[in-house]
Parts: sequence; structure tokens; C-alpha cells
Amino acid sequence: MNMKPTHHAQLNQSMVGQSVTAVGWVAKRRNFGQLVFIDLRDKTGILQIVINEELAPSIKEVRNEFILSVEGLLAMRKDINPNIPTGDIELIASKVSIISTAQTTPMIIADETDALEDTRMQYRYLDLRRPVMQEKLMMRAKIVRAMREYLDDHDFIDVETPMLTKSTPEGSREYLVPSRVHDGEFYALAQSPQIFKQLLMIAGFERYYQVARCFRDEDLRADRQLDFTQVDIEASFMDADGLFEHIEGVMHSIFDKALKQPLVTPFRRMSFHEALDKYGSDKPDLRFGWELYTLNDVFKNTEFGLFSNRPSSSSIKALVVPQGASLSRKEVDELTALVKKYGGQHLVHFKYGDSTLTGSAVKLMRESEIQDLISTCNLKDGDGVLCLMGEWEKACTAMGALRLHLGHRHHSFDPKHFEFVWIVDFPMFEEDPETGGIIARHHPFTRPQDAYMDTFISKPLEALANAYDLVCNGYEIAGGSQRIYSSHMQSDVFKLLGFTQEQIETRFGFFVDAFNYGTPPHGGIAFGLDRLVMVLTNASSIRDVIAFPKNASARCPLTSAPSPVSEKQLQELHISIQSK
Ligand code: AMO
Repeated sequence: MNMKPTHHAQLNQSMVGQSVTAVGWVAKRRNFGQLVFIDLRDKTGILQIVINEELAPSIKEVRNEFILSVEGLLAMRKDINPNIPTGDIELIASKVSIISTAQTTPMIIADETDALEDTRMQYRYLDLRRPVMQEKLMMRAKIVRAMREYLDDHDFIDVETPMLTKSTPEGSREYLVPSRVHDGEFYALAQSPQIFKQLLMIAGFERYYQVARCFRDEDLRADRQLDFTQVDIEASFMDADGLFEHIEGVMHSIFDKALKQPLVTPFRRMSFHEALDKYGSDKPDLRFGWELYTLNDVFKNTEFGLFSNRPSSSSIKALVVPQGASLSRKEVDELTALVKKYGGQHLVHFKYGDSTLTGSAVKLMRESEIQDLISTCNLKDGDGVLCLMGEWEKACTAMGALRLHLGHRHHSFDPKHFEFVWIVDFPMFEEDPETGGIIARHHPFTRPQDAYMDTFISKPLEALANAYDLVCNGYEIAGGSQRIYSSHMQSDVFKLLGFTQEQIETRFGFFVDAFNYGTPPHGGIAFGLDRLVMVLTNASSIRDVIAFPKNASARCPLTSAPSPVSEKQLQELHISIQSK
């Protein structure tokens, strides 16, 4: 028998006069003389219950979060509440049964909460009762369903791949799982299904997808988790343009079926270089302009010490802030501290007003430089200019952080405004700042663009990759590439990354070998599902769209994981713990 025949949202004016049973949690109880009003909550919303003086004694002990089953007649409400869908009706109780009692909860179950995040996570099952949280998780389910529907309809085959696998060189630190059976040997938890999805292409599936759990031992941020979910996709005989069309199709499905709002495609495309140069980020937030300026020419022959003798690899980048002339000394100091976190130094502040540029640097500048700066930055009355010099990527990144910080303070965004952009033409490799060696920017399976096929080994830092990210409102929501499909080239890349022939054979031999048996050209992409849902639901943290997340210090306050284990378990796993 269904103990809950209706949901609150199914009840409406047309059913007034009918006898119904409502089941839910007590969200609020108000006593009005002899009458008691109860707001009964279920996953679809609130229904007002009226308890008359006869029944009132039977619910004396009822308080918030009790579960009640209420039989009665549906009636029109006198005082209509326009803020809730069932605000025009109420249920006049004739029988109330208490299904479950509840202690006083450690946090209030309502959209607005002042509970600490750790309390919310410790009592996650209560936190998840809050309607905002329910809406987010329900929207997540709708988004996944819409993605699956598109992919199923377009012949992408859902295949599961192992989570317990072998250590791979994808770039993140891995979780290792000791083998009980094989003394001293470890599985790695999959960082992503990368190698397996490529093997599925070699196996001839042509189009694959998976809603896959991934594990990375990373420092956590507002948009990162240790275990997270990808909607992982791979296709053979399909170039990047073909793949972009499908990914835009997946996004259309989400916007049509889950968000129910229009979406304009194709998404614009921007090179990595342009994104960094103009917006200071390879994941630019394009909901506002505020493009960065380059002042290298303005200060070409300057005697202003800070910007003189500019090395050729560095750039002078500027951000124009409307009304930024009024930034105080203290504010500029705070902004300087911000750019320093990104490797920027010495932020120079100019103010423009009454057709005059002022600021401590101005007295060291020639009149022509002053005029050049005003016209290059197209300054208007009241504008402020912030600029700094540094190695190109560092200077851009530092100014990009500033653009985001001040831009978000200056603009208020419509929650339904989503700016998508494909970032393309990524460099294939970069220098590892710690070792000075070469590392892959995306991952080592990425193919160079055709123009760099012959030179990427000899001049790796100049090569561009056939890699792409999908960015929305300043977040990288998906990333992928076209893959290497010759064992030769794959081995060459591993060597370039510093692996010896022996390491290649023992660690990736099975993979490189597979390429020798007829490998189709292939490529793919993976959505970060949690991040995608976070952006589309305007959540401020990825934790708000995950049912049971880890907190910022990589713990689960609900279960207390990670936690010590027994000596017996350790022995079975051949592990001994050395205290520090
Ligand atoms: P990548 O490492 O770029 O690519 O990951 C793909 C997408 O996954 C999301 N993501 C994360 N989300 C939450 N927490 C994390 N720690 C985290 N790390 C990544 C991001 C990112 O865009 N195998 C390749 C994909 C491919 O080449 O096809 C891969 O994993 O949204």
C-alpha cells in the first residue's frame, strides 16, 4: 500500500471539498486559541493543515519534524499565501496520525540558515530536507537525465570502466588502495576513465559515454572535490568540430528539458592566448567586458623605473575600472596583496578625472606616454587604471584575478545568464615550475595540432595541442582533446615527459601496445558534472550540489571519514603505520 497517496503539489483548488490524506514533516506549528495550524512539508512543498479544538489535544506533543498523516477535507484558504503553490488551499483535519516523532533538530530546516557548514554536513540528512537543497539535487537528476537522453539518442553507448585500476600519468595525485591478496601491491582509484575509454575506441565501440566517479587527491577549492563525477564521452572518426556539435546538443537537451530556457549555439570559440591576454584566464567569465589592455607600446622607451628595461618575455597589462579613480590607498594595497598571490608584483594605480591623469607614477612619465595611456585605455572621467608588469602568463593571470574580483563586486548578474565559450589552441606542454621538466597541459594522450606534428618533439613548448575546454561563467565545466593514435607518437610523448623506455613498458606497455592493432582516430571530452550543476544552479560551492560531500579539509563530518582502522585490518593489508 502507498502510505502517501498524494504529494502536496498535486492538490489544487479544483479538488476543494474532496476528502484527501496528506503525509509530511511538520515544518511549523502555530497555536491560535483553540485552533492549531500546521505547515506540513513534503518534497513538493508546504500544505497548511487546520486542526480544530476537538483534535488539538491529540497532537499536543507534535512539534517540528514529526511526520504526520492527516485525513480531512480540502478547503479554500481565507488568507491566501501567494508565495507558495498551495497557498490558496488548506486541509481541515478530521484525523491525525503520528507516523514518526522527532527530537529538536540541531539546525533549522528552512532555506535560510545560519548553521555552520560543518554542522550542515554533520547532519546532512537534515540539511538535505531544506527545500533549496532538495531543488538542487532534483535539478541535478534532471540534468543528468537530459544528458543521458541526448547521448542515448545519438548512439553513444554507456559502458562502465573500473574504479580500482592502475596508476596513470594524468597529472593529479592518486588514491592508492592496498591489495590484501598481493602483498605490497596497490590499485589506484581512477582519476578518470581516460585510458579505458580510449581502449573502448580501439575495441570498436565508436561512441561511448559514462557517468563516472573519479578520484583525485587534490587540495580542495569551492569547485573541487576528492571524489567527483564526470559525464565522460569519447568518439571515433569524429574531429573536434563534430564533437563540439554533440556537446552543444547535450547542452541544448539540458536547457530544454531541465532548465527550460533557451540556449544559443554554436558557442563562441576563443584561443587560449586570446583568453589569457584579454581576460587573464583560460576560463574567462564573459558575462562582463572589462578586457585587459597591453601597455607595452605606451611604455616602450619609458624612464619610469618600474616599467623600463622590460624583458621581451614580459608584458605590461592594465585593467580599467569604472569609478576606479576613487579607490583608496588601502584598497590598492589590498588589491596588491591579491595580485601577489598570483605571482604579480607592484600594482600601479592611475586616476583619470577632469581630462587629467594622476597617480604617483605620472611625474616620472613623459607627456606623450600620458596621452598614449589615456587613448590606449580609452579613459573616461572617474576611471581608475591598475597595471603591472610581469612574465606574460603571470601578468595576465594576476590581472585576470583582479578583473574577476573587482568585476564581480561591480556587476550583479542575472541568475539565468550563462555565457559559454570554447577555449581552443592550448599549448601542448608547459614547464614544471618545480622540476624544470616538461609536463602535458591537458594530459599525455593529447594529439598536437597538425601544424606541429613534425616539430613538437624538438620544440615542445611551441606546439599547440588539439585540446579544448568548455567554459561557462568563469568555470571550466568540461575538458577534452583529440588523441594520439599511433604507439610511436604515444611513446615519444611519454619520453618527452621524462619516462624511460622501461617505465613506459612497465607502466603503460598494455596501452601503447593496444595501438598496434588497428586504432581509429578518436577524441573526447569529460564534463565535470558537479561543477556543471553548480554553475547552472548558481550554487556558490560544489558541495551544495553533492548529496554527501567532503568539507574543505577533506573530511566527511557525517561519517568522520577518514578514520583510523584496526590493527587486524592493517595487518591483512600488509601495512604498518609509522607515527611522525
Ligand atoms: P579533466 O581533468 O580536465 O579531463 O577533467 C574534466 C572535467 O572534470 C572536472 N573536474 C573536477 N570536478 C570536481 N572536482 C575535481 N577535483 C575535478 N577535477 C576535474 C572539470 C573538468 O573540466 N580524462 C580527461 C577528459 C578527456 O580528455 O576527455 C579529464 O579528466 O569540470
